[in-house]
Amino acid sequence: MHHAIRIHEHGGPEVLRWEQVPVPSPGPGEALVRHAAVGLNYIDVYFRTGLYKPPSLPATIGMEGAGTVEAVGEGVTDIKPGDRVAYATAPIGAYAEFRTIKAERLVKLPDAISFETAAAMMLQGMTAEYLLLRTFKVQKGQTILIHAAAGGVGLIMCQWAKHLGCTVIGTVGSDEKAALARAHGCDHPIVYTREDFQAKVKEITGGKMLPVVYDSVGRDTFMKSLDCLAPYGMLVVFGNASGPVPPFELGILAAKGSLYVTRPTLATYTAKRDELAGSASALFDVVQKGAVKIEVNQRFPLKDAAEAHRALEARRTTGSTLLMP
Ligand SMILES: NC(=O)c1ccc[n+]([C@@H]2O[C@H](COP(=O)([O-])OP(=O)(O)OC[C@H]3O[C@@H](n4cnc5c(N)ncnc54)[C@H](OP(=O)(O)O)[C@@H]3O)[C@@H](O)[C@H]2O)c1
Repeated sequence: MHHAIRIHEHGGPEVLRWEQVPVPSPGPGEALVRHAAVGLNYIDVYFRTGLYKPPSLPATIGMEGAGTVEAVGEGVTDIKPGDRVAYATAPIGAYAEFRTIKAERLVKLPDAISFETAAAMMLQGMTAEYLLLRTFKVQKGQTILIHAAAGGVGLIMCQWAKHLGCTVIGTVGSDEKAALARAHGCDHPIVYTREDFQAKVKEITGGKMLPVVYDSVGRDTFMKSLDCLAPYGMLVVFGNASGPVPPFELGILAAKGSLYVTRPTLATYTAKRDELAGSASALFDVVQKGAVKIEVNQRFPLKDAAEAHRALEARRTTGSTLLMP
C-alpha cells in the first residue's frame, strides 16, 4: 500500500483526502515511479473544482513529478529501474507516493538537475518554452507583456524572455511580487490590482503597444489584454486563474486591429515524443547554464495538499511550489 491524495467529489480544498491505496503495477509500456517530489500547478485547482473533469471519480489529481523508476512493464526498453526521471503530462495521478505512467512520457534527468528542481519546473518550464519559442516566437528587441509575472510560469517566462533579448512588462498582485519579478528579468512590473495595466503599457511603449501578450489570468484581464496589442498582435490566453474567458464577438478582433487570439495547451505542444524531448532539453539547457533559475518558494507535505491549494488560490504563493511525499 501507499498514500495518495484523492478526490471523491469536486469542491474546495477540503475534498483533497489523504488515503491508503494499493501500489499499482506497471502494465505494458508503463513504468512505476517512486516520487521524490511532486509539482503543484494551477491546473490541479481546475481538476479539483471540476472546471476540468477527471475521467472518473475517485481520482488522484496532479500532473507533474520527479523520482526514481522502481519497475517497468512489458516492452519498455528506454527506461529501466533506478533511472532518475521527471514528467509533466496527462493523465492526472501525481499526488501520490507512487504512480504508473507511460514510459514514453518520462524524461531522464541530467545529473545536475535535482528531483526538487525537476518537479518544480517541468510543467511550468516546458510551458514557458512553447509559449516563447513556438506559440509566438519572440524576437530580440521586442517588448512583451506577461501576466502573473511573479507566479510559477511567470518567473520562468520573465527570465527566459529576458535571456532571449526581450523587454519584459509583467503584471503582479503586490509590491513584494513586483520586486521579485524585477529580480527575475521583468523590466517593468505593474501592480495591476491598483494600476491600469493598459495605460501603463501605453506609457512604457510610447503608444506603440505590443506584438504579444501572454495571459494566464483569463476572465479579468482578457479585454484589456487585447487593448495592449499593436495591429496584427497576438493574445495568447493560456490559463484561467480568475475564471475562463466568456464567449466573445470575433468582430472585436477586427475592430481592435486585425488581432490574433490563441488558446494553447502544453498537451498539444508535447504530444509527440520529439516535441516533449525537445521542450525538456531546451528547459534543461537554460537552467543548467543559469539563464533561468527555478525558485521553489513554498514546500508542503503532500498530505497537506489542501493547504497548498488554499495558498495558491489566495494568491499567496510566488514562483514554484512543491508537494513532498
Ligand atoms: N495552457 C498551458 O499549457 C498551461 C500550462 C501551465 C500553466 N498554465 C496556466 O498558467 C497560469 C499560471 O500557472 P501557475 O501554476 O504558474 O500558477 P501561478 O501563476 O503561480 O498562480 C496563479 C497566479 O495568478 C494570479 N491571479 C490573478 N487573478 C487571480 C485570481 N482571481 N485567483 C487566483 N490567482 C489569480 C496570481 O498572481 P498575482 O497575485 O500576481 O495576480 C496568482 O499567484 C494558470 O492559469 C495555469 O492554468 C497553462
